[in-house]
Amino acid sequence: MTKKLLLLPGDGIGVEIMTEVEKLISQLNKSGKTDFSIETGLVGGAAYDAYGEAISDADMEKALNADAVIFGAVGGEKWNDVPYEKRPEAGLLRLRKDLQLFANLRPAICYPALADASALKKHLVEGLDILIVRELTGGVYFGEPKEITDLGNGQKRAVDTQVYESYEIDRICRVAFDLARTRSNLVHSADKKNVMKSGVLWDEIAHQVAADFKDVKFEHILADNCAMQLVRAPKQFDVIVTDNLFGDILSDAAAMLTGSLGMLPSASLGAPDPATGKRKALYEPVHGSAPDIAGKGMANPIAMIASFAMALRYSFEMVDLADEVEAAIAHVLDEGLRTADIMQDGCSKVSTSEMGAAIFARL
Ligand code: IPM
Ligand code: MG
Repeated sequence: MTKKLLLLPGDGIGVEIMTEVEKLISQLNKSGKTDFSIETGLVGGAAYDAYGEAISDADMEKALNADAVIFGAVGGEKWNDVPYEKRPEAGLLRLRKDLQLFANLRPAICYPALADASALKKHLVEGLDILIVRELTGGVYFGEPKEITDLGNGQKRAVDTQVYESYEIDRICRVAFDLARTRSNLVHSADKKNVMKSGVLWDEIAHQVAADFKDVKFEHILADNCAMQLVRAPKQFDVIVTDNLFGDILSDAAAMLTGSLGMLPSASLGAPDPATGKRKALYEPVHGSAPDIAGKGMANPIAMIASFAMALRYSFEMVDLADEVEAAIAHVLDEGLRTADIMQDGCSKVSTSEMGAAIFARL
């Protein structure tokens, strides 16, 4: 049966890396391996320019009806002065919230060929395979009140609210433990229970869930220590489960261990529908819109292509095809092809579309 994809390239390099995914989809469809139908929409600054909103209701409707949303990146200087509710990031946050994509999976894998490109010493990152499971629809990103008030005495007061209910912690922890079982059976839960009530509750629920997964090893870690350990000895980790804000920060750190932010895919998943078992899902690279290099054909399309591979794996049960795409990425890296962000001595520098073409030629 035809599967419906919604492509939302967004802004900056989002556009050119999404072009590579479109080429991949059309190659897979032609070969008969897949039967995807494609719709496209606007998000971020591109949507603001067209509709005055970070995402239109019509495109939200398409997202709700799609089997998976493939997302590029949003943001750029051009929209620095648009109202806060309409800033490019608001489009992404609305997608996450309205599709209830509470589970954000951010794998950080160090491809063997890139172990030298990491900011860390090679022996620390060679073979690295971490999965950050970030809570994505709660916490300080969405908590109310969220406001700036004028105190009238020349001072202002800003409030963001960090809030979690136990069910939100429970369901994200269960995702982490389930995934740990398919990997190395180790979960670290990162919070700041030493200073935050939400951290105390987070840890209490994490321990309750851990009791249901006795076969999985469980460790608590303070989020600041987790940041430190990630750059000290990252291979001690398997799955790290954490809240929305800590997950945002820790996943950028984990991403850079792998050589470049341009390498990291992510999947954002909702709960399975009780009737059909299907999850709403959005797939996006962890990197941003990189306006400084947009339109120059320099962007690294690997995180975007690997995000599409995650869609094959998690939304369409095409695990073998996902493996093939990931193997093709590893292969072109072994051959020495590099976009500018991961360029190394003795390698050949290629453009966005050359990197895409080399990967697709392997399939
Ligand atoms: C991410 C990004 C987003 C976030 C921004 C663009 C709103 O940094 O996906 O990590 O903070 O979640
Ligand atoms: Mg981020």
